[in-house]
Amino acid sequence: MQKSSYTTFLFSTPINLCYNNIELIYNGGKMEHTKLKIPTHVAIIMDGNGRWALEKGLSRSKGHEAGFEALKRISEYIFSKGIKVLSIFAFSTENFKRSKEEVNFLMYLFENKFKEYSDYLKEKNIRIIFSGKREKPLSQASIDIMNTVEEETKEKTGGVLNLCMNYSGRQEIVEATKKISTLVQENKLRIEDIDEELFNHYLFQELPPVDFLIRTSGELRISNFMLYQLSYAEMYFPRIYFPDFNSEAFDEAILVYNKRDRRFGGIKNENKSY
Ligand code: IPE
Ligand code: IPE
Ligand code: MG
Repeated sequence: MQKSSYTTFLFSTPINLCYNNIELIYNGGKMEHTKLKIPTHVAIIMDGNGRWALEKGLSRSKGHEAGFEALKRISEYIFSKGIKVLSIFAFSTENFKRSKEEVNFLMYLFENKFKEYSDYLKEKNIRIIFSGKREKPLSQASIDIMNTVEEETKEKTGGVLNLCMNYSGRQEIVEATKKISTLVQENKLRIEDIDEELFNHYLFQELPPVDFLIRTSGELRISNFMLYQLSYAEMYFPRIYFPDFNSEAFDEAILVYNKRDRRFGGIKNENKSY
């Protein structure tokens, strides 16, 4: 059995550090000349569409439409800043608990409006992949779109958009366990060869760990999102509703990320003496 590595998703193109808005902010303060750290893998839990609509006296559907427009704008901006992998929580397995009308509207958006967006990203050299179970209650039309778009963009090298639909983080771990157990049972894999990297390989998609998680709307939870991949992610919970999440809000997020001290269990250099 061949183990492929995270580097499948890391491209050789240089990271574009030309982050003008942010340099401007830094020039005014102490952080002048600091080179910005750009996370490799950003994950976003798009939340607050419903509350955005409610506050404007609109229907939840209008909130989802506005959320989709925000996603189109922000994903292009994020890739233009050199982020290699963007994971988006678009629809959880638990979201099927919502009213039939709301679920149908979200599926309608995907089945009817997604193609234009995916064609555009394809032109921009972005690969699109999907995480989540491709089975009912998702419609066959949605599943067909996912398979087609993945196939059509599989050679693209400018970045990876990982769209999580009918996605559950716990289910992803259970499914990977089943795949690995089957290989062991069929004598295709030895138990002693199972390690963290191999486990990662059998998740819905093999991706590098998430560096930075953003959840809009102010909720302080991860709602079953990317449980394996988030182990050492920095997390940020801006109060803004997703339809209002724009390039300025993302720049602010990157500033927050740059102020974090990622130690991964180690200690800071200046603290090393006992
Ligand atoms: C996120 O917005 C969109 C999906 C979960 C599909 P919500 O619909 O959860 O918005 P709120 O949380 O009700 O404001
Ligand atoms: C998480 O948001 C799922 C998505 C953004 C797709 P929810 O709005 O469904 O999460 P909870 O119910 O507030 O935890
Ligand atoms: Mg919500």
